[in-house]
Amino acid sequence: MKQKSSFRRKPLSASGGGIQSLRQTLDPGFRRGDGDFMHSHIMRHALSLATRAYGQTSPNPLVGAVVVKGGRVISEGWHKKAGTAHAEVIALRRAGKKAKGADLYVTLEPCCHFGKTPPCTDLIIRSGIRRVYFGMRDQNPAVNGRGLKQLKKAGIKVYGPVLESECMAINRPFIKWITTGLPFVTAKVAVTLDGRIADFSGDSKWISCEKSRLYTHALRSGSDAVMVGANTYRKDRPRLNVRLPGYKGKQPLPIVVGSKGGKKANLKKLLRELGGAGFQSILVEGGGALHTEMLKLGLVDYLVVFIAPKMLGNKGLTWLGDMGNVKMSAPLKMNVVRRLILDNDVVIEGTPC
Ligand SMILES: NC(=O)c1ccc[n+]([C@@H]2O[C@H](COP(=O)([O-])OP(=O)(O)OC[C@H]3O[C@@H](n4cnc5c(N)ncnc54)[C@H](OP(=O)(O)O)[C@@H]3O)[C@@H](O)[C@H]2O)c1
Repeated sequence: MKQKSSFRRKPLSASGGGIQSLRQTLDPGFRRGDGDFMHSHIMRHALSLATRAYGQTSPNPLVGAVVVKGGRVISEGWHKKAGTAHAEVIALRRAGKKAKGADLYVTLEPCCHFGKTPPCTDLIIRSGIRRVYFGMRDQNPAVNGRGLKQLKKAGIKVYGPVLESECMAINRPFIKWITTGLPFVTAKVAVTLDGRIADFSGDSKWISCEKSRLYTHALRSGSDAVMVGANTYRKDRPRLNVRLPGYKGKQPLPIVVGSKGGKKANLKKLLRELGGAGFQSILVEGGGALHTEMLKLGLVDYLVVFIAPKMLGNKGLTWLGDMGNVKMSAPLKMNVVRRLILDNDVVIEGTPC
């Protein structure tokens, strides 16, 4: 499929001053003033390209690349799927001979090893790229700085990291998996104002609004697997798939956690096995017993809580069970990363701590 962009071939716009001053801003020393803005601007575009493949690249990371020459974007690319061309390769192929003397912006350090595809560093060197601006180092132990070293050795000027925290944020699952072998776990729950996930009879359809449920489908589309406890499966028969309008991407693996011979599942072992099988991201959708156990064991990396303006009283099911004697002076907390308003629901997301 041809990769489209609204950005391509447009002159870069910075703080005014025409192409000549734009060229100057692209020169090294980019950590200062306009240059800093310019490089972030292009890297932000590379990031937006990378996220077009959200949920589709596992076990590979999301990567975007932009080739810039004479103050113009001449080509771009993003990694679409494991086993297919890397972002830099797509961008450089599209740039062709024009890549000679150009600058390459890439959200992740280029690879220098043979995986399913040959090393990107070789192609960058052969293409005659003059400078490489990278977003973050590749934390894959097989790369981790070696790609940058190879480029420098070949005489290419290497600058970065540019927008490192943003580049890391889009690849949280990849970073966790490549450094620990474990999948990145997101727990998602929809609660009433009084913290209930179902009514006295176990009915939970629906706590959150339609927009919130669409957002849940977007979360599913970014996950390799979606997991629920056996009670949720028995009660709700959730399909655990992505049903976004027009969605044709990968479907997550549905997982129902049950007991065997009266023994509860070993959740740590299960995650280790999933990580070993290449699962990078797991979305846990409840219910209460599974969420409680996952949080107690410290297995949740990211929490997404939908709060709906409804109340069910104390006969409703709470989403957190026995967490021990938690003191007000030392509560379980969340480092808030994002807050959203979806119609009348409030969504609060972050890392439990
Ligand atoms: N509002 C929401 O966001 C939301 C989301 C999901 C569910 N819900 C509601 O929540 C209710 C179900 O929640 P629930 O708390 O009763 O059950 P649950 O968390 O869905 O499932 C718990 C069951 O999972 C199995 N399990 C196996 N190993 C486990 C382990 N290590 N830790 C925890 N569970 C393990 C056990 O089933 P067995 O022993 O039977 O095999 C256990 O009884 C339903 O009413 C559903 O509608 C609401």
